Amino acid sequence: MLNYIEPAFRPPSEARSLILQVTNGCSWNNCTFCEMYTAPQKKFSVKTSEQITQELQQVASSGISVRRVFLADGDAMTLSFRRLKEILLLIRQYLPDVQRVSSYCLPRNLKSKTVEELTELEQLGLKLMYVGCESGDDLVLEKVSKGESYQSSLMALNKIKLAGMKSSVMILNGLGGRKYSEQHAVNSALLMNETQPEYLSTLVVSFPVGMERFQQGFGGDFEPLQQMDLFREMAVLLNTLTLEKTVFRSDHASNYLVLKGTLSRDKARLLTQVRTAIHNPEQIDLRQEWQRGL
Ligand SMILES: C[S@@+](CC[C@H](N)C(=O)[O-])C[C@H]1O[C@@H](n2cnc3c(N)ncnc32)[C@H](O)[C@@H]1O
Ligand code: SF4
Repeated sequence: MLNYIEPAFRPPSEARSLILQVTNGCSWNNCTFCEMYTAPQKKFSVKTSEQITQELQQVASSGISVRRVFLADGDAMTLSFRRLKEILLLIRQYLPDVQRVSSYCLPRNLKSKTVEELTELEQLGLKLMYVGCESGDDLVLEKVSKGESYQSSLMALNKIKLAGMKSSVMILNGLGGRKYSEQHAVNSALLMNETQPEYLSTLVVSFPVGMERFQQGFGGDFEPLQQMDLFREMAVLLNTLTLEKTVFRSDHASNYLVLKGTLSRDKARLLTQVRTAIHNPEQIDLRQEWQRGL
């Protein structure tokens, strides 16, 4: 019923949320693995307050009770503090049942926002940031043109925590290929240990439209990880993680092996599952190629 510019992506856990497209596309749109907003109609733009108000009025008049709102698209947090505050106030005005607003968030989206400003947004309902760290390894981040680093991700995750918001981090299994697998896994784990996000999920990097653009960043020598290598990388990641209370999910459709638990409580069980997948794959349920997707 809303006027979406398709495709509109959202995290799996926002399946039941109202997707409010306050921006279109991604203002960075440079990560070489990401084709999500490369279609011509997805060129980055910002919706006006009038457009957002009209959409909220439309939802309100439907009589549906909305409890969760996800601000789309790829980095709605690029909007200024003033615009975000205005949007949250509009959501309050038109959808008073809303308990949680969330958004994707690039670390750089928070650079010019203070903890005080973020705290104010949290109090207005913005409770959860999905941060695509992808890796904690600077070399891998550079090769995939993420435009972020261990340090910039650390700063953003710390700010989110200080503001009382929760963070849900995405790490990409296989992002460094064979050559950088070990350092990608270890440094990603160290970033998580230092920041202790509430949620952590891993996705397997996939290339639905080919690897040409991605290969360029690696000077042509990116060797994709095979299934077993992906599991070995996952074992290194899990083994290095020292989390206190993080909900861990590796259940996105891109994964061959579904893993779910709370870390560190379930670390031993998850590691056993990964080791079984490596040494006795016939004893564990793995997704078939046709069951996978992005
Ligand atoms: C729609 S994007 C928005 C994320 C947000 N812009 C950020 O960078 O924090 C959501 C996530 O999808 C994942 N993703 C994008 N392209 C992918 C690919 N080719 N394979 C696997 N995961 C991918 C990345 O983890 C990315 O952070
Ligand atoms: S991963 Fe995020 S920042 Fe990178 S291009 Fe995709 S949407 Fe933009």
